[in-house]
Amino acid sequence: MNINFNQTPEYADFDGLRRDGTLMGKRLFTVTFGCQQNEADTEKMRGMLGALGMTFTETPEDADVILMNTCAIREHAELKALSMLGRFKELKRKNPDLVIGVVGCMAAEPKRQNMLKCDFHYVDFTLEPSMIHKLPSLLLRALNKNGRCFVIGEGAGDIVEDLPVARVSDFKAWVSIMYGCNNFCTYCIVPYVRGRERSRDSAKIIAECRELVGKGIKEITLLGQNVNSYRSDMDFSELITEIAKIDGDFLIRFMTSHPKDVSPGLIEAMRIYKGKIAPYFHLPLQSGSNHILKQMHRTYTREKYLETVNALRAAIPDIALSTDVIIGFPGEREEDFRDTMDILKTVRFDSVFAFIYSKREGTVAAKLTDTVPREDADRRMSELLLVQEKISEEKNLPLLGKTVRVLVEGRAKKGDGNTYTARTASGKLVHFYSEGDPKGQFKTIKIERVGAFDLFGSEQI
Ligand code: 5AD
Ligand code: SF4
Repeated sequence: MNINFNQTPEYADFDGLRRDGTLMGKRLFTVTFGCQQNEADTEKMRGMLGALGMTFTETPEDADVILMNTCAIREHAELKALSMLGRFKELKRKNPDLVIGVVGCMAAEPKRQNMLKCDFHYVDFTLEPSMIHKLPSLLLRALNKNGRCFVIGEGAGDIVEDLPVARVSDFKAWVSIMYGCNNFCTYCIVPYVRGRERSRDSAKIIAECRELVGKGIKEITLLGQNVNSYRSDMDFSELITEIAKIDGDFLIRFMTSHPKDVSPGLIEAMRIYKGKIAPYFHLPLQSGSNHILKQMHRTYTREKYLETVNALRAAIPDIALSTDVIIGFPGEREEDFRDTMDILKTVRFDSVFAFIYSKREGTVAAKLTDTVPREDADRRMSELLLVQEKISEEKNLPLLGKTVRVLVEGRAKKGDGNTYTARTASGKLVHFYSEGDPKGQFKTIKIERVGAFDLFGSEQI
């Protein structure tokens, strides 16, 4: 069933939604797949629903409403979400009043949406990422048993400001500065599910950051599918400069950047405000082969990419670099993969996130027929991981015996309860022992052991 959103209350009709009372006291369970943008969206959805009187539960069995925020970047991410969704079927059988909604990128794919509508009868609604401000009105409908609801393609272009946010952390915060993507890299589903680029008003962003710092937030991560393509009355380098000028002891991170938009102004801002802007750059390469880069529609060459890396290192010599690489893009020959390995060995990234190409229906690359056999892709992946592990460890070695400033994230997953995990400004994970409760604080740690993926040390009092 389709609905006319213009006839249902907006989140802006806060009083109307509260007066209705349907949401009051209902228990909400949320689960989030995918990137930081999705985590930020979940915080907004919880913020809105919390402000309307809903309470939160950590167990789906106790929930009146289950919201699954999904990712569509690779098939694997979708299968994981669908498998979890399958487990909720039994909950709906036991409690027919339970409302289940699928939100996020998978909900914006026509094929998946149709599948959820036809094959997952216990799913009450889907909602695409650019329409999350419509969530309360959708939930209202579902809780009042006004029929299932599957809408697509209505929200692209919206930016709704001033939604309440229920932040998970009280010392780290996501701040979305732009949404969507115009680049249409041929492998990527994002422009189709998150719509065209639109940037938030700079004054709103700066005010939000100032308020967060005032509340004691120690780390702000500026988010956008192409964060450095931000453009309003100012560009990204001007925006980050204004945020860096805010008084206080806090760190600015940003992701994800496109190599084409790393401007001299941004590099200069990072150099000048090094204490505030983390000396770390995630710069997705995707492939080291010019032939494949062209097929991917990445709009830069390997030579241009290397120039950008050199410029970053010339300005900020100890900058940490990481990248994303896709292996097995259609038409990737052995020599193309060699070009990728060559860049990895030349640049010596601190870390590399490598993904095997996953065909995404509706993208340009999905029509390419010269697919790479899985065993070739797997072999290339193993080689890359082996080489990169060695590089990452070698890059960490100079930190041995040094003291580093870290922001403590919380108790380590493994350990005796007194082991804490923290991150350096350059993004490296550090584990250390503490008898206090240093979560959310900046600490100085002496590094005593290094591995490829993390560092170990002790607190310097
Ligand atoms: N297959 C594999 N990896 C992909 N990515 C994006 N689309 C695909 C795809 N179809 C990777 C890119 C991107 C990261 C977030 O996910 O490397 O930078
Ligand atoms: Fe996808 Fe390319 Fe846009 Fe990144 S820049 S979201 S990889 S289309």
